[in-house]
Amino acid sequence: MTIKLRKYKKSDLKRHLEIFLMNGIYKKINPKIEKQEKEWLDKAIENYKKEKPGFYVLAITLDGKLIGNCIAEKIDYKGKTAEIGFWIGKDYWNKGYTTKALGLFFKRIKDKLDLKKVHAKHERGNPASGRVLEKDGFTFEEEKGKLIAYSKTLK
Ligand SMILES: CC(C)(COP(=O)(O)OP(=O)(O)OC[C@H]1O[C@@H](n2cnc3c(N)ncnc32)[C@H](O)[C@@H]1OP(=O)(O)O)[C@@H](O)C(=O)NCCC(=O)NCCS
Repeated sequence: MTIKLRKYKKSDLKRHLEIFLMNGIYKKINPKIEKQEKEWLDKAIENYKKEKPGFYVLAITLDGKLIGNCIAEKIDYKGKTAEIGFWIGKDYWNKGYTTKALGLFFKRIKDKLDLKKVHAKHERGNPASGRVLEKDGFTFEEEKGKLIAYSKTLK
C-alpha cells in the first residue's frame, strides 16, 4: 500500500465527487454541486502555474487511486504562514494514510510556498484530526469555541 501526493488533473472530477458521497457530505451530486466542484478543481489546477497561488492542494493517492487531499490555504507570503487542511474518504480512515500524506505535504510546500510556520484547526468533535496533527508534529495552541488550534514550525 503506497501513499503518494500528486497534482490534481481535470479527469479527477468524478472520483473527487465520489469521495464527497463516501463521506456523506452530499447525499446526491446535483448539477449545482458538480459545477461548484468543477470550478474548485479548475482553480486548483490553475494554481499550480502561479508563483503565489491563493491556495495549493495536492491529491493523496493510494496505489495510484485518488483518496483525498492536503491543502494549504490563507497563505501569507509576507509572514510565511498558511493554514493546513486535509481529508480522505471514509473507506480509508484509521490506517495511517493521512498522517503519512501530511508528512509528505510539508516537504512539498515548504520550499514551493516558502513557509516557516503552518497552522491548523479542527472541531472538538473530530479528535482523529487532532491526532493526525499531533502525529505530524503539531503543537496545541488554544481552544476557540468549538475549534482547537495547532501550529507547527517547518524545519
Ligand atoms: C480526520 C481524518 C483526516 C483522519 O484521517 P486518517 O487517515 O484516518 O488518519 P490516520 O489513520 O493517519 O490517524 C488517525 C488517528 O486518529 C485516531 N482516532 C480515530 N478516531 C478517533 C477518535 N474518535 N478519538 C480519538 N482518536 C481517534 C486513530 O486511532 C489514529 O491515531 P493512532 O495512529 O494513534 O491510533 C479523516 O478522518 C477525515 O478525512 N475526516 C473528514 C475530514 C476532516 O475532518 N478533515 C480534517 C479537517 S482539519
